[in-house]
Amino acid sequence: MILLTGGAGFIGANFVLEWLAIHDEPVINLDKLTYAGNMESLAVLQGDPRHIFVKGDIGDAALVSGLLERYQPRAIVNFAAESHVDRSISSPEDFIQTNIVGTFRLLEAARSYWVGLDMAEKTGFRFLHVSTDEVYGSLGPADAAFTETHPYQPNSPYSASKAASDHLVRAYHHTYGLPVLTTNCSNNYGPRHFPEKLIPLMIVNALAGKPLPVYGDGLQVRDWLYVADHCSAIRRVLEAGKAGEVYNVGGWNEKPNIDIVGSVCALLDGMHPRPDGKSYREQITHIKDRPGHDRRYAIDASKIERELGWRPAETFETGIEKTIRWYLANPGWVADVQSGAYRDWVDTHYAGAATA
Ligand code: NAD
Ligand code: TYD
Repeated sequence: MILLTGGAGFIGANFVLEWLAIHDEPVINLDKLTYAGNMESLAVLQGDPRHIFVKGDIGDAALVSGLLERYQPRAIVNFAAESHVDRSISSPEDFIQTNIVGTFRLLEAARSYWVGLDMAEKTGFRFLHVSTDEVYGSLGPADAAFTETHPYQPNSPYSASKAASDHLVRAYHHTYGLPVLTTNCSNNYGPRHFPEKLIPLMIVNALAGKPLPVYGDGLQVRDWLYVADHCSAIRRVLEAGKAGEVYNVGGWNEKPNIDIVGSVCALLDGMHPRPDGKSYREQITHIKDRPGHDRRYAIDASKIERELGWRPAETFETGIEKTIRWYLANPGWVADVQSGAYRDWVDTHYAGAATA
């Protein structure tokens, strides 16, 4: 079996659902269930013996060691993290605790478990760390996309904490020989995405008749990948990646934020027109920019394509349509995640946000 962390979050939950749809190898899912963890996303797995859910912290060394001893997994896939840049700006502490200290403790537990394995198990074991393109910093308009050797230049507390965790993962390979793999992926979107991030926030706000808050001029560029494509990349790296290697994952799909918001509005206009017949674009509002906002991310995914034969299955057009269909079909999921804690965040973060 495999031990997965953060499997009640956006990407982790999609990964668990797909994993168990593809094969029968059980998954131990260790998740702290922060505001971002949502068991509703995993509801279809209730009673499925292949999904062993454990509520707990990756930083709880005794808990993690106990799980490793008991279940003897062949791999650990680490999704658990604090992941929202805006929250990292207003309260960075949790990012340091989970992304840095938590990953360190997980690595320590993995190391002591791994040294006790027999030779064949030791060679086959993998610690796959799921990371982000944001560790590379911001690109200028004409710069080449990030390759795996791009210098680390993180600019937000989120990306700095992920960068620190990547360095620890690397060090555990070079110092102790732990067979690690790191993936650095671009922005994901898709079903079960918490509506504090751009795309789900725009869908949910549009349908609720609320403003669509675009930071600054909206010309910041992100490289978007459908979540199922990220999950297939992680499965491929786990299966065939070379221990100690880093793989950038992306869909060659750079778009300015304002175009993303425009696409969401155009699709919603067709799929779920406003009662007054006007376009959802009317709800777009430019607000004060994010401090230190990275201007452009772009991933060069040629290594994973060349060495592991991975390719994304979705284009942005097919992926965004699937995403919007999922949100339209799942209003109950949206209502469930819009808990008290979520409402508090939205109220504080967007309250009085000056219109740009
Ligand atoms: P998310 O915020 O939706 O989910 C994170 C999950 O981790 C939640 O279920 C949460 O409860 C859990 N968690 C948080 N702290 C924990 C702890 N201390 N112990 C155990 N569980 C804990 O995040 P996501 O968007 O699914 O991202 C998953 C991973 O992928 C993160 O490591 C993130 O950095 C990385 N990533 C995300 C994106 C993206 O666009 N979302 C892109 C590239 C990489
Ligand atoms: P986000 O989904 O938070 O991902 P990240 O910051 O990790 O790239 O934001 C994506 C882009 O959308 C980013 O440039 C910030 C911008 N954005 C807005 O313009 N308005 C919003 O309300 C949010 C949440 C993000």
